[in-house]
Amino acid sequence: MNASEAPQTLRWIGDSATGHLQMIDQTLLPNQLQWLDCRDVQTVWEAIRALRVRGAPAIGIAAAYGVCLGLQPLPMADPERFLVELDRVIDYLAGSRPTAVNLFWALRRLRHVGADVAARSAPSEWLPALLAEARTIHEEDRAMCHAIGRYGATLLADGAGVLTHCNAGGLATAEYGTALAVFFTAKDQGKRLHVFVDETRPLLQGARLTAWELMQREVPCTLICDSMAGQVMREGRVQAVITGADRIAANGDTANKIGTYSLAVLAQAHGIPFYVAAPTSTFDLSIDSGDQIPIEQRGAEEITAGFGRLTAPAGVPVYNPAFDVTPARYIHSIITERGLISPVDTQQIQAIVGSDQRG
Ligand code: MRU
Repeated sequence: MNASEAPQTLRWIGDSATGHLQMIDQTLLPNQLQWLDCRDVQTVWEAIRALRVRGAPAIGIAAAYGVCLGLQPLPMADPERFLVELDRVIDYLAGSRPTAVNLFWALRRLRHVGADVAARSAPSEWLPALLAEARTIHEEDRAMCHAIGRYGATLLADGAGVLTHCNAGGLATAEYGTALAVFFTAKDQGKRLHVFVDETRPLLQGARLTAWELMQREVPCTLICDSMAGQVMREGRVQAVITGADRIAANGDTANKIGTYSLAVLAQAHGIPFYVAAPTSTFDLSIDSGDQIPIEQRGAEEITAGFGRLTAPAGVPVYNPAFDVTPARYIHSIITERGLISPVDTQQIQAIVGSDQRG
């Protein structure tokens, strides 16, 4: 399968006034490949919250289209009213999930475009301008993923064993992915890789989504339980670990799916380079370190009754942080669409990501 044949995680159907968003419902994979029609902003909010669409870049793109849906029913005439409603829709979507910064980054872009067109253009142009910006975010992400793939593939030798966690593939982005883009590109270059896939407790994004994507593209892979990673490394089967990211602080501390931090520590203990693959839209230079990254807490039932079957005594207290923070000192390099950040520190990040991300 090549990139053009891969199913689109997100697509906008129709024009700005009456069109709608379609997304793959990732909660149904790998058993069913089904598209969900989102015709109002509430459906987009619920889809983000319930992880029907998930992965930092895909959440940002979905939210951008969600803004258009939220404004569709409103009369477009008065600029002040338009901006009040725009802020209301943006605040609503911003409350869907807290950790992935791409969500807030995309919403900020829509806010800037909204303010600009409200000041300068006729009301008939406001909604088309917002949709055009959402489409631009979508297209830019596509290009960023392919560039990340090209930079990342230079790090992998023919025959390498690699390990990844959660899903940082085409499903989590416009297409192709971040960490998985590296594997897909290396394969296209003729390198033979073997990918170890952490199942990624408790919601199994690795088992359900990453293994599915790798198999679709015929990349050799082996599924392991998260707790097996240390043993697999000790057996010498892994030459690199690559994960995605949900938010990267100015000093390089990186939030990603819970379990990533343990992997980074394990990788260091075994002398294996740990790489993060992420577009510049995942950096949050407004925060100095990972201590300031909000960590999403999710429901106990994800652990006690995952996928509908009770696997713990009823009423047992549960702690379920959805993300953890890997300190920058464990990260060998960050693979961005603008090149590799290495060593991972404030100066290198500033040099590559630049001031366009601040605020
Ligand atoms: O809770 P999820 O499934 O949205 O978590 C996703 C991850 O942690 C991904 O690794 C991250 O968003 C990068 S996606 C390219």
